[in-house]
Amino acid sequence: RPPVDVDVSKLPPGQQITVVWHGSPVFITHRTPQALERLQQASLAARLRDPSSGVLQQPPYAANWHRSIVPAYGVVVGICTHLGCVPTYSPAPDPTTPVANWPGGYACPCHGSKFDLAGRVFIGAPAPYNLPVPPYAMPTPTTIRIG
Ligand code: FES
Repeated sequence: RPPVDVDVSKLPPGQQITVVWHGSPVFITHRTPQALERLQQASLAARLRDPSSGVLQQPPYAANWHRSIVPAYGVVVGICTHLGCVPTYSPAPDPTTPVANWPGGYACPCHGSKFDLAGRVFIGAPAPYNLPVPPYAMPTPTTIRIG
């Protein structure tokens, strides 16, 4: 099947879009500098359920702290790794959640799994591993080619 090209030149920082790839939702997030800072907090690691992305779920170019080709754009398959619900974009930190110091990202409406803006799942979630990063490339700085 042909790859899907997404033009992100009009996607403002802090916003995300959902595109369909092979029938699955893929979230593309334009992460703000503040969101990138939150992803790099050293204290996050101890609260991640799958800190090393141990399950095969990301290509080598996404094996980094931002789990993507460039830090500004996140690209993850939007299917909860628990039972397959579609998580909700919720980019702001939420101190009311029972997941301690969750920095914001994606929240699953079905059983409460919390993911950050790199798709990493937090301890306390029923989801066992991070949101997968699909195969993708960036043929231009503002084009994301999925597949
Ligand atoms: Fe997402 Fe259960 S399907 S937490």
